[in-house]
Amino acid sequence: MKNITTALTYHDSTKHRPQRYAASLGYMDWATQADPYLRYEDAPLIALSHVDVTPPYHLLFEPDALPTAPLCYESLSQLLRYSLGLAAIKSQGGSSWALRCNASSGNLQPTECYVIAPAIEGISSHSTLSHYAPREHALELLHTYDEKLPEGTFLVALSSIIWREAWKYGERSWRYCQLDAGHAYQAIKTAAAMLGWECQIQSVRSTEIASLCGLDQLERFDQHEYESPDMLLRICVSKEALILPLTPKLPTRANLLSPSHHDWPILKIIDKATQGLYPLTSSLQTQRHTPPPSKSAGEIILKRRSAQAMDGSAITETQFRQILDSSLFCNETSDVHFMMFVHRVEGLSKGLYAFIRNIDDLEAMKESMDTTFVWEDCNDGLYLLQLGDYRGVAQRISCNQEIAKEGAFSFGMVCKFAESLELHGAIGYKNLYHQCGAIGQMLYLESTSLGLSATGIGCFLDDEFHALLGLTDQRFQSLYHFTIGRAIVDTRISTQQPYTY
Ligand SMILES: Cc1cc2nc3c(=O)[nH]c(=O)nc-3n(C[C@H](O)[C@H](O)[C@H](O)COP(=O)(O)O)c2cc1C
Repeated sequence: MKNITTALTYHDSTKHRPQRYAASLGYMDWATQADPYLRYEDAPLIALSHVDVTPPYHLLFEPDALPTAPLCYESLSQLLRYSLGLAAIKSQGGSSWALRCNASSGNLQPTECYVIAPAIEGISSHSTLSHYAPREHALELLHTYDEKLPEGTFLVALSSIIWREAWKYGERSWRYCQLDAGHAYQAIKTAAAMLGWECQIQSVRSTEIASLCGLDQLERFDQHEYESPDMLLRICVSKEALILPLTPKLPTRANLLSPSHHDWPILKIIDKATQGLYPLTSSLQTQRHTPPPSKSAGEIILKRRSAQAMDGSAITETQFRQILDSSLFCNETSDVHFMMFVHRVEGLSKGLYAFIRNIDDLEAMKESMDTTFVWEDCNDGLYLLQLGDYRGVAQRISCNQEIAKEGAFSFGMVCKFAESLELHGAIGYKNLYHQCGAIGQMLYLESTSLGLSATGIGCFLDDEFHALLGLTDQRFQSLYHFTIGRAIVDTRISTQQPYTY
């Protein structure tokens, strides 16, 4: 109960309000920006390979359409390349920066990835624990186990270096780390689908993930740059019971990411309160439809970009519905609904809409929201609540960002909040962000497949949005916002390949 109260207090105190944003430095202390690349420099580095030919994107969503790849050096390389690898190097005015396959708030990239695998030729003749180094597209070998792990299946652990986001976003940054972890998870799930592999979140304790990856060996990290365990994924799922190997004291130490740090005590408090047994949420009852033929999955993943400006043009209703439908591929995200400002979708009137992703919540949502909403059924989970031009409102609620107004539509991901925390404890709060982030990554990819663009919006006025919907209690809360439309491409920015091979 104490941890739930901590989560609720954190949630409330990190809301952006029109007169007072959540606490942060309020300026960029460039001298202390964290290195986006964690390295264990004493660890042997195993270069991974590059695969250019990947299956068509639409086949990822057709059950059994793709053959199951064997677990080997090439397939593991492909999985990491198209999930957490670099997608492009961008340059402008003498500075350059890397973008990755997984979107990240402020491109600060707090998510780290560890692989626990059986013996794989080209990696090791033993079972291994390694850390993925995206800049090098390589594995840093942290440990070889004496015991044999089951063949044909492996584990991926995700963790967050909260300091990376805290540097810029202060107290709200823990939320962004969780959204980013959700993006990373979905990026991995999608890359696994390209190989015909299943990817399942495991219900394990945060402490188990920490000891598996050596994150609890605090002497290996600067005290401000500790890594918080997020999720454990099992890929090419086997029927054997999950037994986690014992990781001993590791000799490798993480590189220092920043020369100095600003302390935000609330971040340690919320991080501790939301550790526990990771919940397995109920699955969505509806499956996504196979989309029409599209480009190769790899091309779409590498082309995914956040729009920095939108051109204000319309999209078709077919595109709109396909994008909504794609979110159903994230089948473990049954607590999330979209409350949408539809600005420019041909065939749909402008207005406020709801996309109810889990029909079980429909009545509760109706009860919780403004009683004047009409809830006109527009099929497939879509409901019109109120006609109107919400462009200005969308911009204001999104911290005055024009992308929310100039996209074809923008929306908040409204989550079943109080009940999730009651059911799962404070870790349920963390899980809701993971659900939202996973959906976000999926929507980015689907938009890209249609020649459209998207942008995740972490900066929004929480209670202004809730008030607009008539939400007055904690039953439902909006945890992530999003906009989709046509991007204006900044031609001053040039693009290079991220790897030479
Ligand atoms: C959780 C999250 C929140 C974000 N919030 C914003 C935002 O409020 N405004 C914005 O312009 N971009 C936002 N972005 C987009 C990121 O800035 C973008 O992902 C990052 O710069 C990397 O660029 P890329 O997505 O093109 O790879 C957000 C992304 C994520 C994942």
